[in-house]
Amino acid sequence: MSVTKDISFSYLEYGNNEDLPASDRELAMTAIDAAGLAYAPYSKFRVGAAIRLESGRIVHGSNVENAAFPSGICAERTALAAAVSNFPDDKPVAMAIAAVNEKGEIAESVSPCGNCRQVIAEEETRRGNQIRIILYMKDRTRVIESISLLLPLQFNMKSLRQDPPSQ
Ligand code: THU
Repeated sequence: MSVTKDISFSYLEYGNNEDLPASDRELAMTAIDAAGLAYAPYSKFRVGAAIRLESGRIVHGSNVENAAFPSGICAERTALAAAVSNFPDDKPVAMAIAAVNEKGEIAESVSPCGNCRQVIAEEETRRGNQIRIILYMKDRTRVIESISLLLPLQFNMKSLRQDPPSQ
């Protein structure tokens, strides 16, 4: 016998970017600026991510590509690595993501890849607080209260039955 189980989640969608709360907007603007700093000669898809830390500090990152394609890294993980390594005692509480296409326009669609979801989710799990995800796009913005909503049934440190690392 089996049962069908459903997983669903809710998120906020702003049909007008002007309606975004000021702090989310500020983070999104930093993500757009960070997209301008991307090194993306291969895809020409420039992505920026901006992380707000608990203290209010903002840390940004952008995608950095490589001739050996799999060696490239996404904006989200670049930003997260910068935050964790430079401000280890300051928890990430939100991340805005935005992309700029080849024409220099804000992309119509942006969403973190599976690898990035996994990495952001581990940060959320080990810190014990939600990381709010702000997907800033040309004509709308999606706000998701926790990265875990984007990664149901996740494999994490609990799956390994490990205690969180001490630092
Ligand atoms: N990319 C990101 O940086 N973040 C995303 O959320 C999606 C994809 C990058 C990886 C690669 O440099 C380029 O965008 C095209 O996939």
